Amino acid sequence: MNIIDLIIKKRDKKELSEQEINFFINSVVDKSIEDYQTSAMLMAMCINGLNQRETSDLTHAIANSGKRYDLSDINDLVVDKHSTGGVADTTTLITAPLVASLGVPVLKMSGRGLGFSGGTADKLSAIPGFNTNLTIEEAKKQVKDINIALMTQTEETAYADKILYSLRDVTGTVESKPLIASSIMSKKIASGTTGVVLDVKCGKGAFMKTYEDAKELAKLMVNIGRFADVRTVAVISSMEQPLGHNIGNALEVIEAIEILKGNLKGDLFELSMTLGAHMLVLSKVAKNVDIGYDYLMKQLVAGHGLNKLRELIAYQGGNPDIIDDYSLLPKASNNLEIFAKESGYLNSVDTDMIGKASVLTGAGRLKKTDEIDLGAGITLSKRIGDYIENGEKIGEIFSSSLEKCEQAKEIIENALHITETAPEKPTLIIDRF
Ligand code: URA
Repeated sequence: MNIIDLIIKKRDKKELSEQEINFFINSVVDKSIEDYQTSAMLMAMCINGLNQRETSDLTHAIANSGKRYDLSDINDLVVDKHSTGGVADTTTLITAPLVASLGVPVLKMSGRGLGFSGGTADKLSAIPGFNTNLTIEEAKKQVKDINIALMTQTEETAYADKILYSLRDVTGTVESKPLIASSIMSKKIASGTTGVVLDVKCGKGAFMKTYEDAKELAKLMVNIGRFADVRTVAVISSMEQPLGHNIGNALEVIEAIEILKGNLKGDLFELSMTLGAHMLVLSKVAKNVDIGYDYLMKQLVAGHGLNKLRELIAYQGGNPDIIDDYSLLPKASNNLEIFAKESGYLNSVDTDMIGKASVLTGAGRLKKTDEIDLGAGITLSKRIGDYIENGEKIGEIFSSSLEKCEQAKEIIENALHITETAPEKPTLIIDRF
């Protein structure tokens, strides 16, 4: 077999066999092909697509390229959640402790953020002392002790994905449904999870801009899960506006804690509860999503989710006092308030631009090697459909650089569209599969 023939085959819109896909991934891992050949293949796959069978084969090849973990000594059912990437999406910090507080084992491997979409591992790094670099043995012991561990993906998990993702990131081949589906599901399959709830983001701040694309991606992943014996549910949720009010690592930790304290409702709360309810169904703790939602609500009201977060932080070396004293979290040295320049209704939000503005403040990274400013970010108080008075404060920017605050402010002002008439509010939970 020869990589050039395979690139030509995909370039000419032909189907690749399982052996050919395995050959491609093995060659990526053993470095017997050059990065430009891998990139050419990724571009051919991105443009010409892969069918369901090819996508499943690619997923398994990537999952098998590193270590595969077995979590059955924790429990027969270990359920995970995963988001396809959004802005102000800190659902994991809310959902995971709430679900774990019901005795359900949660072992979640998370990635770091890249581009405008944040990563749970970065958010946890904002908690002083919190160690996300657990070995799988440490994580398993922790789950046996307290039902929850949140860790960074180990280097060996779906090894080929790291190589592919870093090339996709610089070759314009991230936004491909089969490549996203195989990247996400390979990591879930390799991590040993028996069930996964996928949050497929749809809208201006997501890789999938339209419902049709989000649906196709959701179905691809659900089918991959089915063939791999991983019970998979996909929820399509709106990314027409940032999910929460806070964007940035320490800021998002604060918002998650406020929700667990019962002080905040809204879209971030709703989606966290819904994803958690699906996790309870997959874990066979709840008969249906409504019952699961009720269970989580009771845990939240009783403060059990917050207590579980406290326990998690302490177990992983973090300072749990941050829960009662946010001044212990990293704080940016500069801030700049944003005031409305006209009256009217918030009609639409260029969510990707808001995400880019947050990266500019230092809250995210453009390259894998970039350092993050954990206290940086943006807060926005208005949602689509809200009425805004001219001169009213609508948000604030935090950064270690005042110049970056000013640049971000301009981007944000251009990303918020105000009109005289009230728009329809976007539906948060668009579909489920
Ligand atoms: N998240 C991933 O893990 N992989 C992708 O390709 C996109 C989002």
